[in-house]
Amino acid sequence: MSGGSYESIVPEELGDPAMRGAEVPEPGAVTIVVPTFNESANVRELLHQITETVPGLLPCEVVFVDDSTDDTPEVINEAAQDCPFPVTVLHRDDPVGGLGGAVVEGIKAAGSDWIVVMDGDLQHPPSLVPELVATGERSSAGLVVASRYIKGGSRAGLAGSYRVAVSRGATWLTKSLFPRRLHGISDPMSGFFAIRRSAVTAEILQPLGYKILLELAVRSRPREVTEVPFVFQDRFAGESKSTAQEGLRFLRHLVGLRTASPLARMIVFGLIGVTGFIPNLAGLYALTSLGMHYVPAEILANQLGVAWNFFLIEHLCFRERRGYRKGWDRISRFALLANADLVLRIPLIALFVGQFGMHALSATALALVTTFLLRFVGTEALVYLPRRKPRRGERGEGEPAEPARRVA
Ligand code: GDD
Ligand code: MN
Repeated sequence: MSGGSYESIVPEELGDPAMRGAEVPEPGAVTIVVPTFNESANVRELLHQITETVPGLLPCEVVFVDDSTDDTPEVINEAAQDCPFPVTVLHRDDPVGGLGGAVVEGIKAAGSDWIVVMDGDLQHPPSLVPELVATGERSSAGLVVASRYIKGGSRAGLAGSYRVAVSRGATWLTKSLFPRRLHGISDPMSGFFAIRRSAVTAEILQPLGYKILLELAVRSRPREVTEVPFVFQDRFAGESKSTAQEGLRFLRHLVGLRTASPLARMIVFGLIGVTGFIPNLAGLYALTSLGMHYVPAEILANQLGVAWNFFLIEHLCFRERRGYRKGWDRISRFALLANADLVLRIPLIALFVGQFGMHALSATALALVTTFLLRFVGTEALVYLPRRKPRRGERGEGEPAEPARRVA
């Protein structure tokens, strides 16, 4: 098969290996997945460099997953005519998950034992592709990361000290949040890596992962991981697509990964609850200074704490699960639980002291823990429990986006 001459197939069939049987390259071959967003000035050179350095050593195919608004797909199709390997462009009209979503789409469509993910702007040298795969084969690793931070690697092409500092800071933060999972991975933010098909798990293929390597390493850590150094080059042409907004998206992703287990979520829930004292006390101070009686002031100030907690908990613990109920429904359920907590505490303390003969202090502590647990479980079950059907117009957890369209 030569590049640019594919029949178009119906979208439902995309990603189903059985349907792509005829295209599955021989074992040991590699599918190079390249996410592109307006890279028309780079893709020709990229295909040229792949042609020069990869097929001589390793059978390959290239899958572009494109969200461009420029003519990148057309340029790829034209350049593909000169390539001695299959080139596919999957264009997405609905660019869910941005860069990470695109990579997931490419991994789904890949048919070979090994998948290499790399950027389309030549910051990742194509000549390293065979070495990444060979290293994986030799060490029987499931994941081989191309790293800028081990001996022999460098980040020469990271433009400016600001970008270097951001990249360093993000790497440090990520490594400290997941010390065990990321042990042995010096560059968890790398967008350049090789992964064995068998090491890709279904949960990774949810379309919302942004930093895909982080997802892979944290959620489905392959048994063995190795690294190969590389020099992060200058961009061949054009500008980086990463923005402050991408940075925020990354932070949300980190929080989402960190709070994926119920225990971690409970700890964050508890910590947020403690910070709720700040607006609560500030509100109490302000209202009583204005001359309000302390009882209604307490009640009102408590609502301020509830609102504060609700905002943080929504964004930090249950971000992905907000879609199952309407906003007003969630906040009223949440407020009800938070106030029930207060009402329940006194009778509970009375019960512990009166019936079990506990000391008032330990009874209060036990009551606090009990109502905290009830509130956490209640919030999970009554405010954010996934329903069978998401509300109309909202995508459920893990539900696929509109499929990519094969344009070549
Ligand atoms: N399909 C698709 N959709 N591709 C995208 C999108 C998108 O929304 N956004 C960016 N891309 C493509 C670009 O076209 C490019 O091929 C690749 O993803 C990387 O994008 P850049 O804009 O060049 O990112 P960068 O150089 O700032 O960041 C790279 O290095 C970082 C490490 O410093 C990426 O590899 C990051 O993943 C990596 O963390
Ligand atoms: Mn780049």
